[in-house]
Amino acid sequence: MALRTIRLPEGFTLHERDTIDSTNEEAKRLADKGAQSGALVIARTQTSGRGRRGRAWSSPVGNLYSSLLLRPTCSLAEAARLTFLIAVAMAEAVETVTGGMVRPDCKWPNDLMVNDRKICGILLESASNQGSATDYLVIGAGVNVAFFPDDAERPATSLAALGSPVSVTDLVSTYVARVAHWLPIWEQDGFAPIREAWLARGYGIGKPVVARLTERELQGTFVGLEEGGELILREDSGLEHRIGAGEVFFAA
Ligand code: BTN
Repeated sequence: MALRTIRLPEGFTLHERDTIDSTNEEAKRLADKGAQSGALVIARTQTSGRGRRGRAWSSPVGNLYSSLLLRPTCSLAEAARLTFLIAVAMAEAVETVTGGMVRPDCKWPNDLMVNDRKICGILLESASNQGSATDYLVIGAGVNVAFFPDDAERPATSLAALGSPVSVTDLVSTYVARVAHWLPIWEQDGFAPIREAWLARGYGIGKPVVARLTERELQGTFVGLEEGGELILREDSGLEHRIGAGEVFFAA
């Protein structure tokens, strides 16, 4: 895999690593040393790849591991919605590099799914300075290009298994091009256009859903996305909940 041939749009800087603990960790180290918004860390493999909720992220050579450093000037709550932008950008990139053969759906809050199986996970980590202002965000995205983990509770797949063995290099370039497309839209028009693009690929809308929250579980129907990105779950009784963080499961 020749990551060296990756060309990024203006405003993005590539930090290529062979083996690293976690691209998110490396991006945070760069941020702490003053790296600018748009720094992108890519690695061939990770020795301590992380998923959400403290889970490990299996990182064999052949998949994509990327972390983008951004320094938005808004509150952390608003900046956290950038994960939806990253999900849309990566979904579009996968669709483009596979010539339209693979069209990922966006699963709340930030996974990409194909045929009810996970193909990409996104992990946002942030640092704030005084008050609630955002110092920086690191948004990690891992895509199962060649391999996928065997996990019964969270079934996964890879582009290779779907018959689209794409080049990681092409995927990275296309992904960053889509991020470069969406970022100015987000800066000018806010979250609304990204929400629309996400909903056009929304996974499980109108379907029964179980939301696992910190202290309880809710069951109902996934009826839509709030204007701030929260999942709207309607119980059979009609009672609606706006869920800002948690993990959701749909019947396959
Ligand atoms: C999840 O679905 O639980 C999130 C997975 C995020 C994995 C990516 S791979 C690149 C970056 N580095 C990490 O250690 N994690 C993210």
